[in-house]
Amino acid sequence: EKILVGVDLGGTTIKMAFINYYGEIIEKWEIPTDKSGKAITTDIAKAIDTKLEEIGMDKSRLGGVGMGAPGPVNLESGLIYETPNLGWVNYPLRDHLELETGLPAVIDNDANIAALGEMWKGAGDGAKDLICVTLGTGVGGGLISNGEVIHGVNGAGGEIGHVTVVPEGGAQCGCGKTGCIETIASATGIVRIAKEKLQSSDQDSILKTIADLTSKDVFEAAEKGDSLAVEVIDYVTFQLGLVLANLSNGLNPEKIVIGGGVSKAGDLLISRVEQYFKRFAFPRVAKAASISVATLGNDAGVIGGAWLVKTKLLNK
Ligand code: BGC
Ligand code: NA
Ligand code: ZN
Repeated sequence: EKILVGVDLGGTTIKMAFINYYGEIIEKWEIPTDKSGKAITTDIAKAIDTKLEEIGMDKSRLGGVGMGAPGPVNLESGLIYETPNLGWVNYPLRDHLELETGLPAVIDNDANIAALGEMWKGAGDGAKDLICVTLGTGVGGGLISNGEVIHGVNGAGGEIGHVTVVPEGGAQCGCGKTGCIETIASATGIVRIAKEKLQSSDQDSILKTIADLTSKDVFEAAEKGDSLAVEVIDYVTFQLGLVLANLSNGLNPEKIVIGGGVSKAGDLLISRVEQYFKRFAFPRVAKAASISVATLGNDAGVIGGAWLVKTKLLNK
């Protein structure tokens, strides 16, 4: 059986792995992301060859590359439509990847492949109707209905991060709109809200003493009972619970999986999101869905990439 190459392209690092047919990671490593976007596929190709040499494996063992990228993708043409951060517009990412690596390749959106990874080997546990939301620098979403990722008519299906939650006067989002959930539930959104609260309220808070505030600091302060931090987390989880409830009324999922760096906050995040989710979802929808943190953590993307190779390239 062929070895599958999973690649998860992020804003600062590219996660890579060799994975077997059962979804088990054989080797995994990271390389830095070329922020200009220009050298990304060359870097990936080099990294594959270097790793093969290092472990003494022949390239003919590799079955293909499956990669997730941070923007809407066209699965058939292998184009990535837009990635504000890497400056790609209608970029033929799959073709570049095939040319550079000499391997067949398949690409999809980063959160879509995280959803596939979680369905295959993680918290999804075989569930065929699943929502995966990734809370990181951005907010990504993957919707799986009856085992298939929903791409929609032009690749933007599952763009959960850009659901509007503040219709007027919301913060500017990278997508061009304002008031998206990404401006609230991303790592940067949480920090922004905390800073705004610190400025506008005379409440005392341990957050006042922290220089380079991170979302982790906000969760840690909330854990210690800092009331300003608790208010921030309450607002963030209220909005996220509302978004997930409204989406779930459309999809009626069995599992809702929350991943990305912010999900390391664990129960403090999940229990509150769940509380609001149950309040706002249609009762029958609420009854069916269980919410949990992604069990694959940072590996969800590369495992989902391997799943793409296995199902879209090798088992066609
Ligand atoms: C993009 C998504 C992506 C997410 C996480 C969002 O801003 O619109 O396509 O999945 O960030 O990278
Ligand atoms: Na998506
Ligand atoms: Zn947006």
